[in-house]
Amino acid sequence: MTSETKNTLNRRTLLGVAGGIVAAPLLGGCATPAFADQGTPQHQPAAASGRRKLGSLEVSSVGLGVQNMSRTYHTTIPSRPEMHNIIRTAFDRGVTFYDAAEAYGPWEVERILGEGVKPFRDKIVIATKFGWNIDQQSGRRLPGLNSRPEHIRQVVDNMLKRLQTDRIDLLYQHRVDPQVPIEDVAGAIKDLLTQGKVLHWGLCEMGLNTLRRAHAELPVTAVQNEYSMLWRGPEKAVLPVCEELGIGFVPWSPLGVGFLTGAIDEQTRFAPGDIRGNETRFSPENLPHNLALVVLLKQWAERKQARPAQVALAWLMEQKPWIVPIPGTTQMAHMLENIGASAVRFTPAEAAELNRAVRAIEVRGARLPAAVQAFSDVEAPRKSGRSPS
Ligand SMILES: NC(=O)c1ccc[n+]([C@@H]2O[C@H](COP(=O)([O-])OP(=O)(O)OC[C@H]3O[C@@H](n4cnc5c(N)ncnc54)[C@H](OP(=O)(O)O)[C@@H]3O)[C@@H](O)[C@H]2O)c1
Repeated sequence: MTSETKNTLNRRTLLGVAGGIVAAPLLGGCATPAFADQGTPQHQPAAASGRRKLGSLEVSSVGLGVQNMSRTYHTTIPSRPEMHNIIRTAFDRGVTFYDAAEAYGPWEVERILGEGVKPFRDKIVIATKFGWNIDQQSGRRLPGLNSRPEHIRQVVDNMLKRLQTDRIDLLYQHRVDPQVPIEDVAGAIKDLLTQGKVLHWGLCEMGLNTLRRAHAELPVTAVQNEYSMLWRGPEKAVLPVCEELGIGFVPWSPLGVGFLTGAIDEQTRFAPGDIRGNETRFSPENLPHNLALVVLLKQWAERKQARPAQVALAWLMEQKPWIVPIPGTTQMAHMLENIGASAVRFTPAEAAELNRAVRAIEVRGARLPAAVQAFSDVEAPRKSGRSPS
């Protein structure tokens, strides 16, 4: 190995664990074998120590998506103590933004998160989501959506118990309910705000007019939509509206559901029950073409002495200062790597070059199965007696 290669590897390892190296002495975090290169002087600043604003809500520049902590995309069940360990280590490394939902599990992920963050709950932002039709007695998922105000109130009371807290910092509507005017949803959230049970609200995958109406009723803190190099749909209209209204943006699946990490190749076939097996962007016909994105990421990873996942997350953060990705993981090494992303910086010329290269790759295949996609971009019905805005 040449000394140049060795230095590159050292810096890569360090970027991967950047948060830990700098934050551990300050925050009392424990060392792990991943910190073997601590003596190298080229380390980057603690990535997750940067802060960003979603509307008026301040969060770490990279959050942690905990959706898969009760069941992974590969359909395995992660170790609960290890999930608590990842949640706590993320906090030790500067992460203050945790993303859950009632539907994850259902219920189980909120319980895992509540247990994990208990020692430092007051120092973090908990985001969770209501909106799927989940029976409040059994926890069974029933067909369709439910954003009726009385249901939202009941769901929030149950969320607070599972999360072991007295307030939800950021509560999203998971999908727009085509039966319930958004003004009624905003009214329910307003009541919850008055009671102190909810501090901020947001919407996911909503129709644009619904977003405007929601914001006019009660200022929206954040929109959460899928956004990554693999799915750039929000660039067309959602991000411009967020910018116009001063709403923050939280990209879900910021790593392209794992694709942008380099973990998926032409040979990859998904386990039965892994949703990615039903997304044609990952089908055997489309994968070879779409892997051009991974080739690009690997080139830039080499250039920036980083990891492909870090470049993918840094690219998102480069798009707007009010974008905060929430990469999801059930592996400590991946969490440490991901929070190292904001140590990756682009000069304006590099950012323009990378954007051009990303835009030149046309992703083939649909992002979601049609039955799932049908829940996106939905407009809520008008409240009777209100004229169209
Ligand atoms: N609002 C919505 O409708 C919605 C929808 C989907 C997701 N979300 C939120 O967004 C969060 C993130 O999205 P996501 O989990 O769907 O997708 P993602 O963050 O794009 O990717 C997660 C996948 O990548 C793998 N991974 C993560 N970091 C990695 C690394 N450094 N190297 C290699 N593999 C890595 C994970 O597996 P390992 O566990 O093995 O690391 C997992 O399979 C979720 O947790 C959830 O909170 C919201």
